Amino acid sequence: MKETIEKALNAQLNAEMYSSYLYLSMEAYFKSINLDGFANWMNCQMQEESAHARKFYDFINQRGGRVTLTTIDGPETEWDSPVAVMEATLAHEQKVTALINDLLDLALDERDHATNIFLQWFVTEQVEEEDSVNSVLQQLKQTGASEGGLFLVDRELAQRTFTPPSVTAA
Ligand code: FEO
Repeated sequence: MKETIEKALNAQLNAEMYSSYLYLSMEAYFKSINLDGFANWMNCQMQEESAHARKFYDFINQRGGRVTLTTIDGPETEWDSPVAVMEATLAHEQKVTALINDLLDLALDERDHATNIFLQWFVTEQVEEEDSVNSVLQQLKQTGASEGGLFLVDRELAQRTFTPPSVTAA
């Protein structure tokens, strides 16, 4: 594996760990305002990001590269409202999508076919991620303005469970 690719994959591993940390922080925010369903949703999101980081970790090793862990930036800790959190989540996922696209461009430039194929899973995943965040955001905007509406959304988000991505789906 080329050094440029190894470096970029390690940077993405760090970005996924940051995402996990950010969602853990959002979970803590929701806990602090007693929205346990939202907190559960963020907990699933946090686990998902950790699984994404693991995929990069495993792939770097499989390719004979060296995983190098670096400092994870501190996430934000306060938001003005549940809507503000979901807006920040959507903006964050859009940023991650751009990072994945840049990484894919690099793999194509370097003619690294294995990395290209590996990243295809993330391209699809990002479409799903943005869609699921956006649907919570829209639901929140439509029904969450009142306390009763917020309670209903919270109850629904309490149902989310985390399913680890298949180890073979690379
Ligand atoms: Fe790992 Fe939510 O992107």
